[in-house]
This record gives sequence, C-alpha cells and structure tokens, in this order.
Amino acid sequence: MTNAIVMSGIRPTGFLHLGNYFGAVRNYVRMQDQFTCYFMVADLHSLTTHPDTKELKGHVARVLAENIACGLDPEKVALYCQSHVRETTELYLYLNMLAYTGELEKTTTFKDKVRLQPENINAGLLTYPVLQTADIILHRATLVPVGKDQEQHLEMARNFVKRFNHRYGEVFPEPQAFNFGEELVKVPSLDGSGKMSKSENQNATIYLSDEDDLIRKKLMKAKTDAGPTAPETPKPDYIENLFQLMRLVSAEDVVKKFDEDYDQCRIRYGDMKKQLGEDMVKFITPIREKAESIRTNPVYLKEVMEKGAEKARKSAEETMQIVREAMGLKYY
Ligand code: TRP
Repeated sequence: MTNAIVMSGIRPTGFLHLGNYFGAVRNYVRMQDQFTCYFMVADLHSLTTHPDTKELKGHVARVLAENIACGLDPEKVALYCQSHVRETTELYLYLNMLAYTGELEKTTTFKDKVRLQPENINAGLLTYPVLQTADIILHRATLVPVGKDQEQHLEMARNFVKRFNHRYGEVFPEPQAFNFGEELVKVPSLDGSGKMSKSENQNATIYLSDEDDLIRKKLMKAKTDAGPTAPETPKPDYIENLFQLMRLVSAEDVVKKFDEDYDQCRIRYGDMKKQLGEDMVKFITPIREKAESIRTNPVYLKEVMEKGAEKARKSAEETMQIVREAMGLKYY
C-alpha cells in the first residue's frame, strides 16, 4: 500500500460490456489493494446529457452492481455517488471562476456534444471538465485511471490546479492519467470494426448482462471467412480479433491449438467460435449472476452508497477546510 490516492468516475449509462471490463474495471480492481481509492458514479455529469432522470436510479444501481460483481470491493475502496458528496459542487463553483470560457469551448468532448445535441448546449456541458476536476482534486488524488478519450480533461485539470495553486497557494497536487500495463487492453468488436462500445452495434458487443445463449449467438455470428490457404498467412483483422478475445477468456493451450490449426490451414472457425462461446459463457455467467443479485438488493445497495459517501465526505471535508482557508473565505 502506498500513500498515492486514486480517483475515477464512472458514468451511469447502464450496461457494462467486455471492453469496460478489460479496459477499466479490471484496472480498478488491481488498484484497490495498492492505493487509497475513490470510485464515483458520475450522476451529476450525466445530467449534462440526460436531463430526464426517470431511469437514473436504475442505471446507478446497475453500474454499482456490475462493478462490485467484477471485483470492486466497497470495503476496500470508497465507492460512492457524486451527488452524495456536496463538497463536490462547492469546489466546482470555485473552480469555475478560474476556468476560461475560451478554453472550455475548445474542448473536444464539448465540441462533439454540441454536434450531437444542438438543442441542449447547456452551461453544464461547457463546464463538464471543471466538475471532473473537482471530483479528482476533492480527494487530492494524483492517479486517475481513465482511457485515452479523457486525457484532454486531465490536462485541463492540471491547468486548473496550477492556476488555483498559483493564486491561492500550494493546495492541490497535479493529477495524471494512470493505468497498469503499458497499453490499455482494447477489446475488439465482433463485426471486425473497432472496439466494443456501448452505442454502436449491440450485436457486436458482449455485455456482462448478456444471457448464455445470447453470448453464444453473438459469437457464432462473428465475421470469419473460408480460412487461410497457405501456411503462415497473416491473420486478417476480424480473425485476429477472435484470437484476441480468446486470449482474454480461454486457456492458453486452447488458444495455442487454434493458432497452430490456423498456421497449418486446418482451422475450423465454427469450432473455434463454439469454443470461444463456451469459454466466454464460463467467464461471464458468474459476473452476471452476482451483478443481478446485487442490483435487485436495494438494502445492500443503500449500505454500499452510505458507506462510500461517508468515506468520500471525510476526505472532501478535510480538503474543503484547506480550500476555504487558502481562498480567504474564512472571516472569523
Ligand atoms: N468524464 C468521465 C468519462 O466520461 C467520467 C468522470 C467523471 C471521471 N468524473 C471523473 C473520470 C473523475 C475520472 C475522474 O468517462
């Protein structure tokens, strides 16, 4: 255990998939034994794009349940909801005074959202990176496990921190993106195009909530061809993708067998997909079942959220005492 503080936010947009598992959650689970960790469900951030909150409660329950089922331990980490720690919004307000509209308007994610939801370009969308900075520095965290798409937000967070420290004194350390391993594991989508993702082709993405038969069906439909005709032919992308998935969930000797079959031009993709289907089912079933039992247990979820918020508030209150003092907001 080092003293380093880890913080990350998870958007409550429902349904984790295999890409989230290998790309993010597995990293969180490894970190929980080595660092002081704060993992937060970003429910306030979700209001910038989803003002209708009818389904929010269900999404929050699902995202908590799925992360716990993947191995995140609410006893070891602070697992909490953003809206339960009001200090977040106070710090967000202070940071807003240090953020320039010009730099916010230039943010890639803001420009994307402007294109995606031209009817609702709200100020919360513009200051999204400011709120994210508040989440992180509220715990004076330095390590932030996030994907590539969040690097610009972290760079902005460092700028806000520098500006704050310059104006009010050294209060915050500079946070940086952090992940185990040199490269983040990318889980390929089943249609041979890009990564597994929530929004794109649902049949090309395996969700942790998919039932056994649906998993088998999705894998059987994955793109293949008639197989190589000469030994040692390089694998086309969509075949390499199947091997990549197999490396994630199958035993080493199984992968080796199909690799050799490929090189000897005797591979039968039907057999390979069947094997992959069974190994995937074995991998997902226990996670899905555990998640389902947690998701439908409101008493347990309440306990988790209360305990998480309590830990997060303790750290937040300490930071905010220092912040108010540094900012000259203490009059007696
Ligand atoms: N913006 C992040 C995302 O889209 C979610 C997030 C909110 C976050 N607050 C955070 C990530 C703080 C890291 C740290 O995935």
